[in-house]
Amino acid sequence: MADTGVVEILLKRIEAVDGGVDSQDVATALSVDHQVVVGAVKSLQSLGDIISAEQRSSKHWELTGEGQETAEKGSHEARVFNSIPDEGLAQSELMKLPSGKVGFSKAMSNKWIRVDKGHEGGPRVFRMVEKIDDSVQDKLVQIQKGIADEVDEKEKNELKKRKLLTEVTVKSYWMTKGPSFSTTITKQEAELTPEMITSGSWKQKSFKPYNFEALGVALDCGHLHPLMKVRTQFRQIFLEMGFTEMPTNNFIESSFWNFDSLFQPQQHPARDQHDTFFLSDPAISRDFPLEYLEKVKKVHSEGGFGSQGYKYDWKIEEAQKNILRTHTTAVSARMLYKLAQQGKFTPVKYFSIDRVFRNETLDATHLAEFHQIEGVVADYGLTLGDLMGILHQFFTKLGITKLRFKPAFNPYTEPSMEIFSYHEGLKKWVEVGNSGVFRPEMLLPMGIPEGVSVIAWGLSLERPTMIKYGINNIRELVGHKVNLQMVYDSPICRLDS
Ligand code: PHE
Repeated sequence: MADTGVVEILLKRIEAVDGGVDSQDVATALSVDHQVVVGAVKSLQSLGDIISAEQRSSKHWELTGEGQETAEKGSHEARVFNSIPDEGLAQSELMKLPSGKVGFSKAMSNKWIRVDKGHEGGPRVFRMVEKIDDSVQDKLVQIQKGIADEVDEKEKNELKKRKLLTEVTVKSYWMTKGPSFSTTITKQEAELTPEMITSGSWKQKSFKPYNFEALGVALDCGHLHPLMKVRTQFRQIFLEMGFTEMPTNNFIESSFWNFDSLFQPQQHPARDQHDTFFLSDPAISRDFPLEYLEKVKKVHSEGGFGSQGYKYDWKIEEAQKNILRTHTTAVSARMLYKLAQQGKFTPVKYFSIDRVFRNETLDATHLAEFHQIEGVVADYGLTLGDLMGILHQFFTKLGITKLRFKPAFNPYTEPSMEIFSYHEGLKKWVEVGNSGVFRPEMLLPMGIPEGVSVIAWGLSLERPTMIKYGINNIRELVGHKVNLQMVYDSPICRLDS
């Protein structure tokens, strides 16, 4: 809000004159910053037609720092002239003076001085005239006094070239009385109230115009974390492709479903304490489908379904151990088992996106928990070609079209492939996921009919989220160091397809 004092003075001045008032003159007269007067003009303008103000710009000349010094002490050439005594001055001495170099050449071309080259002891400078007329200083003094008009343009430009003068543009308002001019201003109403309507007082009031440019107040509402925004997009892609979401609402899983059902041997390093979080309470699970459990035990220890198995002593105690699930493939295993139990097999397309936990060494891109995105398709006669095709379709929807596959190993898939995509920004191939065809040792004990193949793939949610939102350190995305403002301000996610 503008200074009401300045507003009043401004109105009185405008009232007092026939013509108009210039905002710069007002600022000078009141010895306030011009911006203060501009503030008052703006606030008067917002009240309607009290004043009319028109923007003007005018140019005027101003002395530079060197110009001011020249106005005070004389031009360099005059200073050089004045420092030469009757008996002359060695040129080498003269050059050492502060005005020496510039002053010497100007004074030479003005023919104020001359050089005696043949002088013993080196060239010597002598005065050529009795007295000089320092017009440069005179002109600058005139301009300084505000009578610049008496100096002609050509001379001013000459002084500008010598960096003694600059031309400055001044913006100001030229103010005159408006159609509803008054020196007493009433405050405008911002709101029409029920009281004004019932009493009829609104008729006498003046109302503030609406400001349609104003930004609205930020809504006080919840904000989705970037991970959840990206999850929504992935979920959308799966739904568009006809996939059904699996129930992943159990972070705690038994080793049986997390590992054994997936034909992951009990001595596998991933089942080690260093890689998996074990629960102490409740430490074990007991509720397993026994018939199926026996088949799993058999395929591990003796083989079957055309497989030799691992030939080791499979122990229920190991399978009973509760853990924080290390992958959502545990959920896929449960779902495939359930599918096999329903009697007549029907093809399915399943997906899940949820948390998994691994006892990892923490660094900039790894935490002990992350989200896995998993897709599973079961049908008769699916091949590796179907897997590659569906991966192309899936990643194209993410805006990733260049894919490459590299043979890999998972205990539960054969063949297995790591998925790489070409990163245009990094100009290299980066790993984006893992995939494969589930092994018969996993599917046949469940009761999935022979001839049905199940293809599946998995990737992390964190990686694409960090890329999408330009976050380099996972700790800025997840955990106690997260800046909530980042969560509030992060835009909605659109994956460029
Ligand atoms: N479970 C694998 C992982 O944790 C991902 C995967 C899912 C691989 C399905 C193959 C098939 O990385």
